[in-house]
Amino acid sequence: VIGGLGLTIGITACAPSSPAVDTVGAVDFETPLAIPPLAERTVDADGTVHVDLTARSGSTPFVDGTETPTLGYNGSYLGPTIKVHRDEHFAPCLTNELSEVTTLHWHGMHLPAAADGGPHQPVEPGQQWCPEWTIDQPAATLWYHPHPHEETERQVGLGLAGMLQIEDDVEAALPLPRDYGVDDVPVVIQDARFSDEGEFQKTQDFVGTLGDTLLVNGTIGPYFEATTNVVRLRILNASPARVYDFAFDDDREFAMIASGGGLLEKPAQLDHIRLSPAERAEILVKLEPGETVTLRSNPPNLGESFQPITGSAGHDDRFDVLQLRAASELDHVGEIPETLTTIEPLDPADAVGERSFTLNGHNINDKQMKMDRIDAVATVNTTEIWNVLNEMPAPHNFHVHDVQFQVLSVDGMPPSPELAGWKDTIYLEPDVQYRIIMEFTDYADGDNPYMFHCHLLRHEDAGMMGQFLVMEPGANVPSRWVVDETP
Ligand code: C2O
Ligand code: CU
Repeated sequence: VIGGLGLTIGITACAPSSPAVDTVGAVDFETPLAIPPLAERTVDADGTVHVDLTARSGSTPFVDGTETPTLGYNGSYLGPTIKVHRDEHFAPCLTNELSEVTTLHWHGMHLPAAADGGPHQPVEPGQQWCPEWTIDQPAATLWYHPHPHEETERQVGLGLAGMLQIEDDVEAALPLPRDYGVDDVPVVIQDARFSDEGEFQKTQDFVGTLGDTLLVNGTIGPYFEATTNVVRLRILNASPARVYDFAFDDDREFAMIASGGGLLEKPAQLDHIRLSPAERAEILVKLEPGETVTLRSNPPNLGESFQPITGSAGHDDRFDVLQLRAASELDHVGEIPETLTTIEPLDPADAVGERSFTLNGHNINDKQMKMDRIDAVATVNTTEIWNVLNEMPAPHNFHVHDVQFQVLSVDGMPPSPELAGWKDTIYLEPDVQYRIIMEFTDYADGDNPYMFHCHLLRHEDAGMMGQFLVMEPGANVPSRWVVDETP
C-alpha cells in the first residue's frame, strides 16, 4: 500500500495491455495543425500592454459528428498565444463568463503575488480581474491556466490553457526561427478520452486521467507543412497527468534550445526529451526538402524506482504527436547557433538557508494544502536551496511559483543538459534527491502567498501543494496566517 491511499488501477479499455509499447494514439495525420491565434494587444501611450481574455464555455467538434463540451479563452477551446517583450508593463484582463469561479495563473512568471492568479485571487462569475506588472525575465515560453482551489484539473482539462511567449533582445539577436506559426510553432499537448457522445471522460488513475487520444493545439492527428529548413517547436505539456518522452520516428537528433525558463547556454543535442505536466521545451529540428518525419511520444522512463502498480496504467503508451511535412523547396532560416545565452549560476554559498520538501501520498511534508497555512516564509532578495524528494514509486513533479530555479544536483550529480537551464517545474524520479536553488527578488507581500506543488493536477487539487510568503526583512507575518515550516 502506497502512503495508505486507496489506489485504483486505471482503466485501460482502449489500450492494448501487451506489448506495452503499441501505439495507442496512432493517427492518420489528416488534419492541419491548428495554430492558436496571437492575442490582440492594445498599447497605451505610456507603453502599457493590454490583453483581454474571456473565459467561456462552448463546444468543440474534435471527433467527426460529435460536439465536446469545452471551455476556452476567447474561443471554445484553449486560448490565444500571448506575446510580450521583456520590460513591457503588462496589464491583462480576465472576464469570467463561466458559471463558476475561476482564476488566471501566469505559469513561470516572475510577478507580484497578488497578480499570480493562484487560489487566493478567485474571479467570480461575471467578474473581471485585471492585474498588472512589468515583465522582467528572459525570453521564454510560459503558459497561463486557471488555478482555483480544488478545480484545476477539471478546468484545464476542459480547455482553459494558453501559451505566453516572452521576447527579449538576447533571443532576438540570435539567428533563430521566430515567424509565429510558420517556422516557430506552438505545440500544446493534452491527452484526452472521449465518450461515444464526444464528452471528455475522467479515469480514476492515481496520477489523474491518462487519455488515449492526443490533442495538439486541439487537433487530433495533425500535420504541419514546413516551408523552412529549420523548424522551432515550442512544446508545452498541458496534460493533467501524463509524462511524455518526445522523439522523432527516425530517432533523428534535434537541438533543445530552451527549457521552461528560457534559453539554455548552448543547444543540447538530444534524440528524446521527457516532459512532465507543465514543462516546456523549445527544440529546433532540421528538415530536408520533401521529407516527412513524425514527432512521437515513446513510453517515458519514469525513474528506476517507479512501479507501474501505482495507478499509472497507460503511462507506457506510445503516441503519434505531429507529422512534419517539408515542402519540396525550403527557405533557409539560419543555422543552429553554437551558443545561446549566458546563465549566471546561483551560488549555493549565497543561500540563506535550505528547506526540504518530501512528496508522499497527496502530501508535501505530511501536510495537505490549507488556504490559511503558510508552509515557508522567505525574505525578499535572498537565495534559498530546496531539497525535493518524491518518496513514492509513482510519478510526481514539483513546480514553484514566482521564480525560475536552477538545478544544483540530481542525486548528487550535476544536472543533465536539458535540466541545466532555468526551470519552474521539474519531474521527480522516485527516490531521487533534487537540489534546486532560487532567488526571491523584487516583490514582498505578507498578504498574498505563492504556491509550490505537484503539477499533476489531480494531486494539486487533492492538496499536494503548499504556500510560501516572500516578506520584507524583519517584517512580521500577518496574524491571519498559521505558519508551519516543519520539514
Ligand atoms: Cu501551472 Cu501552480 O501552476
Ligand atoms: Cu503528484
